[in-house]
Amino acid sequence: MSNHAPVERSVILGTGSALPARRVSNAELSETVDTSDEWITERTGIKFRHIAGPDETTSTLAIDAARAALDAAGLAGSDIDLIVLATATPDNTFPATATKVQAAIGMTGGIAFDVAAVCSGFLYALSVADSMLRTGMGKRALVIGAETFTRILDWEDRGTCVLFGDGAGAVVLGLETAAESDAAPRGILATQLHADGRHYDLLYVDGGPSTTGTVGKVRMKGREVFRHAVVNLAEVMEQVMKPLGLTSADIDWVVPHQANARILDATARKLGLPPQKVVITVDQHANTSAASVPLALDTAVRDGRIKRGDLLVLEAMGGGLTWGAAVVRY
Ligand code: ACO
Repeated sequence: MSNHAPVERSVILGTGSALPARRVSNAELSETVDTSDEWITERTGIKFRHIAGPDETTSTLAIDAARAALDAAGLAGSDIDLIVLATATPDNTFPATATKVQAAIGMTGGIAFDVAAVCSGFLYALSVADSMLRTGMGKRALVIGAETFTRILDWEDRGTCVLFGDGAGAVVLGLETAAESDAAPRGILATQLHADGRHYDLLYVDGGPSTTGTVGKVRMKGREVFRHAVVNLAEVMEQVMKPLGLTSADIDWVVPHQANARILDATARKLGLPPQKVVITVDQHANTSAASVPLALDTAVRDGRIKRGDLLVLEAMGGGLTWGAAVVRY
């Protein structure tokens, strides 16, 4: 009978995260940047960010997050077939930072590559890894978002430099078979991705190997990004829930990209989601780009907010513009 046909899904077996040792408050930042705790808190909700030191790189953060996720899953690096790492701040232009993680965790075969979708990177990586697992390219994957975004900030531009921080988050995915009749199957139930390159210039880096030959610095039209974020995020969350017959009332937790508390509030209001259902870590970590969703997820799993069986919506928007969402039963 078709309603008993087994369905394979990618299940989150473990989560992990890592932050640089140095934690910088708004007050400390305002000693070197023409800003104030009051301005940053009021406009963004950010209180602290972690800033990577010289020995901390995107790969060291990614490796620490990957090891923590493997520990949580009770697995070793040799159990992993695929690494998809989302970053806009790789250790080097090439090779992929994912290959550094691969070697460090003792994974000698399989597939490892990076994806570039900036703040949406983790949603893109999750969706790609899920598709690859379900089409038979492996059984277990590490999906990582890792950034040292503070390395590409213009510290003279107070409109951007106060907004970002460094960090990494990771999940281990494993393919599991559930009966189609299972009323509450675990795993990734749906993903939705979008891009609209007409808005390339709203949020970009003014350098790169093929243009200036330099790394470049972050440039952003903050107001316009804000406007697109609220519209696109509310829309993509509805798109990802609707085919599953879900509404905001069915969701236990939204784990959003942590860009700005006002974007989170406005998006939740648009969807009629009570603020208590939204995981917020932007106050502690600022915007860590591709790391922010898995970092928030791991934080809420470890502090006991998110429990096994909870229904989650993950969402993000970033440069490109790119945006996406996923429904996951943890
Ligand atoms: N400290 C003090 N004053 C500041 C600072 C600062 N750090 N930055 C800007 N200002 C001043 C400006 O100079 C300006 O002063 P003026 O009125 O005298 O000219 C005033 O504050 C207002 O500046 P705006 O840029 O218009 O401020 P706005 O209200 O738009 O807030 C912000 C800026 C917080 C960046 C907002 O636009 C925003 O949150 N945008 C979303 C951007 C975002 O989160 N991007 C992340 C990546 S994309 C994503 O993740 C969704």
